[in-house]
Order: sequence, then structure tokens, then C-alpha cells
Amino acid sequence: MYTLGIETSCDETSCAILKDYQVLSNVTLSSLKEHKKYGGVVPEIATRAHLKNIDKVLAAASEEAGISLEKLDLIAVTYKPGLVGALVVGLNFAKALSLALAKPFIGVNHLHAHLFAPFLNYPKKLKFPFLGVVISGGHTEIYQVNDFDKIKILGQTRDDACGEVFDKVAKAYNLGYPGGPAIDKLFKAEYKDDFKFKCGKIGLDLSFSGIKTALIYKKNEIEKKGLFNSKIKRKLVSSFQYSALETIISTILEAKNKFGMKRIVCGGGVVANKYLRKRLKSEEKGGIKVFLAPFEYSGDNAAIVAGLGFYLYNKKRKKSTIELKAQAN
Ligand code: KG4
Ligand code: ZN
Repeated sequence: MYTLGIETSCDETSCAILKDYQVLSNVTLSSLKEHKKYGGVVPEIATRAHLKNIDKVLAAASEEAGISLEKLDLIAVTYKPGLVGALVVGLNFAKALSLALAKPFIGVNHLHAHLFAPFLNYPKKLKFPFLGVVISGGHTEIYQVNDFDKIKILGQTRDDACGEVFDKVAKAYNLGYPGGPAIDKLFKAEYKDDFKFKCGKIGLDLSFSGIKTALIYKKNEIEKKGLFNSKIKRKLVSSFQYSALETIISTILEAKNKFGMKRIVCGGGVVANKYLRKRLKSEEKGGIKVFLAPFEYSGDNAAIVAGLGFYLYNKKRKKSTIELKAQAN
């Protein structure tokens, strides 16, 4: 079966074509550059970029896969969560294609799609239950996944998402947007303990807004003394990354033990982080398996949407009707 995936929840316009779970094409066009000067995604700009680009991105995905639209069997699209205007572009585009081609469509939860990333091209690895972890620019959530239609939330951030805090700290430190890759690059393990920053943890819930403020205050304090330089900056962001990621890791391990999970599945933009990947993989012992979104599928893309859409349609006989509405949250 050929599935078209469509993703427009934030600043990436993406279309992908899968043959069952095999990715034939995954074309993503980001409006990132247009948001750079604002230090974060501007919803109106993202929505207009989707409108302008979605035709082009679909044509490129179809050409790269060598599959014409008439050959498609299913259309999968992100319908929640995300920027509502941005979601509406992708969802209406999917509905129109579904009507024009007389093919079914299915709305997919973007967060659950992030958890499908490790199973693209490798569907045999998919086994339930697992502890699902999404760490992205908009969300930081831990789930018990008994199946993709049986997902229970176990913990989440009570304020900022992890990626959002990377972006905000990077903005305060003039490291550009998005901040995650810049801080990842600056991270030096020998500086991880130089500053003792702490994140909030309440049971399996997390809080990152305090550490963000602490980083900004510390910079101002050091600057006032005239001592701020590139080495101090590196020490500060290394200590920040260490604390933020170790807090998530310890919460994941606590949830794994509490719910007796043997498999941990992680997706979302922050999962591209080198330190996080290495640390999580080091927890693969005593029968514990860790599945990380491959680097190319960790951020927002349509292949993960197509993969989960195909799974839900094929295995669970699910599909959507034309009444389906975009949901911001
Ligand atoms: O999943 P994603 O592409 O979009 C959302 O659904 O939010 O995640 C984007 C987030 C951004 O906050 C970005 O700074 C962060 O992922 N990110 C990283 C890295 N690469 C991207 N954070 C830490 N380390 C990275 N290497
Ligand atoms: Zn995402």
C-alpha cells in the first residue's frame, strides 16, 4: 500500500510517500529562516509558508518516490496538536486530495507520530507495551503505550517544553534559533558540573521555566562583573544542557521502573541531541531496549505521520471523516 503523509503543525511543510513502512520519499521545507529574526516561530508566517509551499512539496515527494498521486491508497495528515492555522492548511489539503482521488484519509496525532520514527523501515521492531517519550520544541511528555490507540500519559512538563527552553536560553545567549543544535555543539562534558543548575520535578512531571530564568540571571550577573566571555558561556550552557537532559533521563528511568517497562521509545526534535542519545543508549542493559528516532526522522517530518497513519488504518481499521477538525491542543 502507498501512503502519503502530510505534516504542517509548526514551521515545517512536509510530504512523504511510504510503501507500507518503507520510506520512498520524505520532502521537508522549513520556514525557519523567516522566523529567525523573531527568535521563535511566528504562527502567521508559518501558515502563509505552508500555503505557498505545500503544492511544491507534494510534487517533489511524488517525483522522488516515483509514485503518481493516482497510485496512492491512503492519505495521513497531522490534525493535532500544533498551530491551528498551520494545521488547517495541511488538513484541508488532505481532505481535498482525499475527495479528488477518492481515497481514504486519516488524521494523526503529531506527538504519537514522533513515537513511530524508530519503526519506519523497521516495522518488525515495533512491539507493545513501551514507554513513549516525546521531547520536542512544543512538548515534553512520557506515555505508557499499550498500542497506538491505547496511550496513557504518565508525565509531562508543567510549563516550558524542553526544546523551547533550549531555544530561549540560546536566544538569551545570542546563539541563534533554533537553540538546540547550537547548545548541543557547544556542550563540553568537562563543564557539565561547573554551575549547579536545577530543573523542577514533581513525580513524573517536569518544570523547565526555573532553569531558563536561572541561566538568564546568571549571565546578567557575570556580565555586570565584566567577566562574561566565550569560555564562561560554554560552561554555562554545558551545565544547563546536562541538568535539563539528566532530569529527563532520570524521570524516564523512574517511569520505566514504576511501570515495569522493558522498551523505551524516544522521538521529537531534542532526540537529535548527541549527549542525550549516548546517555539513553547506555541504559540498554538487563533486557532494556532503547529505540531512538533516527536523526533524519527526529524532528518534524511527514514520514512519521504516514507511518503511524498506515499502522492505524491497516492494523486498527481506523480512518477519518470529512468532519475532522484541526485541534491546537
Ligand atoms: O520535534 P521538533 O522538530 O518540532 C516540534 O514539534 O516542536 O522539535 C524542535 C525542537 C527545537 O526546540 C530545537 O531547538 C530542538 O528540537 N532541537 C534540539 C536539537 N536539535 C533540535 N535540542 C537539543 N539538541 C539538538 N541537537
Ligand atoms: Zn514535533
